[in-house]
Amino acid sequence: MATEVFNPWEVKGDIDYDKLIKEFGVSPLKELPDVFNKELGYKRKIIFAHRDIQRVLEAIKNKKKFVMMTGLMPTGKCHIGHLMIVKQMVFFQKLGAKVYIAVADLEAYNARGQSLEDSKKIAQDYILNYLAMGLDPKKCDIYFQSQRSNDAEKSNAYYRLQNLLAKHATFNEFKAVYGEITPGKMLSSLLQASDMLHPQLKEFEGSCPVIVPVGIDQDPHLRLARDISQRIKDPKFTQLSSIYTLFMPGLGGGKMSASDPNSYIAPTDTPEEVKRKINKYAFSGGQPTIEEHRKLGGNPDIDVCFSYLKMFFEEDDKKLEQIYKDYKKGLMLTGELKQYTIDKINEFLKVHQKKREEAKKIVDKFIYKA
Ligand code: TRP
Repeated sequence: MATEVFNPWEVKGDIDYDKLIKEFGVSPLKELPDVFNKELGYKRKIIFAHRDIQRVLEAIKNKKKFVMMTGLMPTGKCHIGHLMIVKQMVFFQKLGAKVYIAVADLEAYNARGQSLEDSKKIAQDYILNYLAMGLDPKKCDIYFQSQRSNDAEKSNAYYRLQNLLAKHATFNEFKAVYGEITPGKMLSSLLQASDMLHPQLKEFEGSCPVIVPVGIDQDPHLRLARDISQRIKDPKFTQLSSIYTLFMPGLGGGKMSASDPNSYIAPTDTPEEVKRKINKYAFSGGQPTIEEHRKLGGNPDIDVCFSYLKMFFEEDDKKLEQIYKDYKKGLMLTGELKQYTIDKINEFLKVHQKKREEAKKIVDKFIYKA
């Protein structure tokens, strides 16, 4: 088996979520308000853990101001795995959140050596997908780390905060949280802390609950930001909240790898590409022959198509359950499950791609001028 690597800049090998929950000290999600239980991500435990979600739930209940803040590193192609977090942003926006999105071009430069120019180009594709998912552009602030704002007061406040935060962290903390650390990575994590905390500055929203939806690999950044934020007396930061989304498996069963187009479905794939990728690469929980499959049944729990349906494409619980049972009993064949999934994905992409075209009319507003 591949050696396990797990840090904010690299994830390799199997992910043991139970172990991570314990090690990182995040809490499993329980007893959420009804609106949450109707949402696919919560009822199916795709959002599987949190820190301090309570204060956000209070804000929702009392109709108080709160922010959802997240970021994207524009290295590699935007794939359907990335869209899961966007669904959360749309969901929280409807519950009253103002959404902040950082395009982590400085992080991409420091951690991956990617130029700001390349990040700008790639980010455009991400932002198109984000808008196509239904984010309300009026209630979101999308910015690049290298160009926070044309409003100098806002921009100063963001970079000032990054610098002030440095005073409250120790070198040993960085090492404990990240393992290997370079000056560039250190600056990136302080900038990410500023990403997460700056919405609470007086130049932005003022002190308020901020919820950060991420993959669990980003939790080290959150731990650091949470710890140092509480050491600062002025301004007083409301402690950060966070929710953690499972990784969507790559077609082959491992992680989606942005450098291998056959490991993911991209929002811009054509119906033929989707068909080819699923038929050729989607790891199947079926038996080697139809006879064996009919007799022994398949294993939906390890089947990549089934997990795509469960995590994203099949909203209908009854339908999903039926597929689960039929596949397990051998009533549904692998070819049939694949075809069903292909149809579902293409149905989604047809609408998504149309919305992407519409988003092209407004995307420029979110991209800084050189
Ligand atoms: N580090 C994140 C990634 O690798 C991107 C990011 C930058 C981010 N700032 C953030 C995520 C703030 C959440 C909150 O994808």
